[in-house]
Amino acid sequence: MHLLRSVLVSLLTASALALPGAEKQSSVKHRRAAGYALKEPPLTTPWTDKVGTNPWPEYPRPQLQRSQWQNLNGVWQYQNASGLDAVQSPPFGQDLGQEVLIPSCLESGLSGIQGNYTLYSWFSTSFEVPSDWDGQNVLLNFGAVDYEATVFVNGQKAGFHRGGYFKFSVDVTRFVKQGQKNELLVFVHDPTDSGDYVIPIGKQTLEPSHIFYTPCSGIWQTVWIEPVPMNHISRLDLDGNKDGQVNITVHTAANVSTSVQVVVHDGDHVVATHRGPTNRPFQFKVVSPKLWSPNSPNLYKVTVILGQDRVQSYTGFRTIERGTVNGVVRPLLNDEFIFLFATLDQGYWPDGIYTPPTKEAMVYDLQLLKKLGFNTVRKHIKVEPELFYQTCDELGLLVIQDMPALRPSQSRTLANGTSVPILPDPAQQVEFGRQLEVLVNQLKSFPSIAAWVIYNEGWGQITTYYPEIELTARVKQLDPTRLVDSTTGWYDHGAGDFSDNHHYANPQCGTPFYSINSSPYDDTRIGFQGEFGGLGNNVSIEHLWNNQNAINSINQTYEIDITVEAWNYRSHLLLSELKDQVTRFSCSGGVWTQTTDVEGEVNGLMTYDRRLQRVDEEQWKADIQGLYDAAAARSNATVSL
Ligand SMILES: *[C@@H]1O[C@H](CO)[C@@H](O)[C@H](O)[C@H]1NC(C)=O
Ligand SMILES: *[C@@H]1O[C@H](CO)[C@@H](O)[C@H](O)[C@H]1NC(C)=O
Ligand SMILES: *[C@@H]1O[C@H](CO)[C@@H](O)[C@H](O)[C@H]1NC(C)=O
Ligand SMILES: *[C@@H]1O[C@H](CO)[C@@H](O)[C@H](O)[C@H]1NC(C)=O
Ligand SMILES: *[C@@H]1O[C@H](CO)[C@@H](O)[C@H](O)[C@H]1NC(C)=O
Ligand SMILES: *[C@@H]1O[C@H](CO)[C@@H](O)[C@H](O)[C@H]1NC(C)=O
Ligand SMILES: *[C@@H]1O[C@H](CO)[C@@H](O)[C@H](O)[C@H]1NC(C)=O
Ligand SMILES: *[C@@H]1O[C@H](CO)[C@@H](O)[C@H](O)[C@H]1NC(C)=O
Repeated sequence: MHLLRSVLVSLLTASALALPGAEKQSSVKHRRAAGYALKEPPLTTPWTDKVGTNPWPEYPRPQLQRSQWQNLNGVWQYQNASGLDAVQSPPFGQDLGQEVLIPSCLESGLSGIQGNYTLYSWFSTSFEVPSDWDGQNVLLNFGAVDYEATVFVNGQKAGFHRGGYFKFSVDVTRFVKQGQKNELLVFVHDPTDSGDYVIPIGKQTLEPSHIFYTPCSGIWQTVWIEPVPMNHISRLDLDGNKDGQVNITVHTAANVSTSVQVVVHDGDHVVATHRGPTNRPFQFKVVSPKLWSPNSPNLYKVTVILGQDRVQSYTGFRTIERGTVNGVVRPLLNDEFIFLFATLDQGYWPDGIYTPPTKEAMVYDLQLLKKLGFNTVRKHIKVEPELFYQTCDELGLLVIQDMPALRPSQSRTLANGTSVPILPDPAQQVEFGRQLEVLVNQLKSFPSIAAWVIYNEGWGQITTYYPEIELTARVKQLDPTRLVDSTTGWYDHGAGDFSDNHHYANPQCGTPFYSINSSPYDDTRIGFQGEFGGLGNNVSIEHLWNNQNAINSINQTYEIDITVEAWNYRSHLLLSELKDQVTRFSCSGGVWTQTTDVEGEVNGLMTYDRRLQRVDEEQWKADIQGLYDAAAARSNATVSL
């Protein structure tokens, strides 16, 4: 945990760790047009007023850090656009009329817009390229834009990107000019669940109701520029395993094979140096590394050098597999059965929707989970900024990462009155598969990720064939080092590593009976309770998402306990029932719904504003430890893989 912080500090202060010519972030004065003001959201958090007009100042790419960069976050201009055709006539050099905070969701109070049905929009800002970047290429980086972005620099189209959850870079070298303001204009189209669109959206919907929430449109993660040599490192695939093997692929902008140097540090101490080729995997060993696990989240700094390009990264040494312990199929971390105990973590904020108000706010949620004894977090049909995964690596929280679902649980009515589920057409399915690959490729170097989830409760899952079978094979090929939970809840046809049940409120984990919605427990795979809990407890209006539709939907909660004491008592019973299933049956983990309340759901460990905590900490710590003890009592036998 301290290790990585020191990397970042040394990077930003240009001290230690051999970053030649390292400089602090170039200072940039954002035009602070008078118009921006926070719009009072239906509920605030303790961080709402701390955001200001320079949000997310942190270096955004922890696993591929360069010494020089410039953050473009801040107040930009915004204008609603008339439709898709608007992209043909960009408003170059014009005042766009409104001001918006970047990064943010246009629907959030923090954006200053708090819009609704913001399907088409223009964003603009200007930036100068620092004079000491002369002679280098300039990359313009976006952390995430929901859903499609067309990027113009100084009146010319510079790039296009599709997919609301992923980072992308545009090489703008030939469009920018030194010593002058460069105009950046971005057209965004975010259909969410309008019309016939079937795209990855997770829990976003234009018509929020109970478990489906306000959507996010626009530039919702950090925007920044950096200088790079013409041939530079464009991506690192990095894996460290329990035997000390480092497996690395150094992708470069020019797809030619040259050689790179990789140095692994334990603190200030070099533990391995190796030279290898670019653009294909190579391996080398670190002798007797301190392994990574939730109890000992050891991380090692990694420096990669390609000519003049020098980047800082990190890895952890651990192996996640499926094996048999004492006759039961289990998830193994470093050869030992690990009982995975997680919350369902939606990553929604009343002030920022998809964008946590600050990094501190984002870390606050994870620290509560860690304090209570959770060793895992299920990132539910959303993708977070990379700093979230770095925090999980540092704190020691495994991540079960869901692919954002396609248009969940919606149907359309045919002319003859039949209601049919809305599912992707063949082209939409191809795009879903492509974005699933992007998800895996972008996140697979974070050591804390334990498993990928492809489908949740059948949402967007084609029923005329079993699409998860081919997608599971594809994910395994891209990332052979993780488990795959192909279908969490339903519809299960035997794919992947988990036999995963969802049931509310009580668990039905790894048991040979039960399974009302999910498939019967399959003892050839890991028995898992992908969701349970969901106990509700209503709160006073000052802690609720103050939207009448949301308040009216609170009564759809599976169970509402009248007092916090009753809620904790019921939680204790459900956790005890799960423990009993660990002891008697083949339960290898569970996911408690959920970290926080969200909009009309009042079933969090905390309220949506994070101001009230429902959990009785001592009771929960004891109950969670009881789960690990029950699991450990069943794992005293030889492991067979
Ligand atoms: C944006 O403009 C379109 C077309 O002029 C209009 O239909 C739509 O309501 C506007 N949306 C917003 C959020 O202002
Ligand atoms: C946005 O508009 C839609 C349609 O008018 C409505 O159903 C929805 O509740 C609105 N959302 C908000 C947050 O006002
Ligand atoms: C190294 O990683 C690549 C994927 O990036 C994988 O295909 C390959 O099998 C791995 N090699 C070893 C020896 O682990
Ligand atoms: C790089 O080149 C190799 C061999 O020429 C090719 O197989 C590979 O697809 C290329 N990769 C990219 C990202 O263009
Ligand atoms: C309604 O139309 C659909 C599509 O043509 C068809 O599959 C379905 O059987 C029809 N249902 C009834 C009740 O006629
Ligand atoms: C929850 O509390 C709010 C505000 O106190 C109230 O308006 C609402 O009716 C309550 N809902 C339920 C189901 O108790
Ligand atoms: C929940 O409350 C709403 C209005 O507040 C009402 O229309 C609906 O029927 C209630 N639903 C249930 C399941 O009680
Ligand atoms: C597992 O076996 C070891 C050695 O026999 C013993 O010390 C330990 O208490 C056992 N653990 C549990 C949880 O039963």
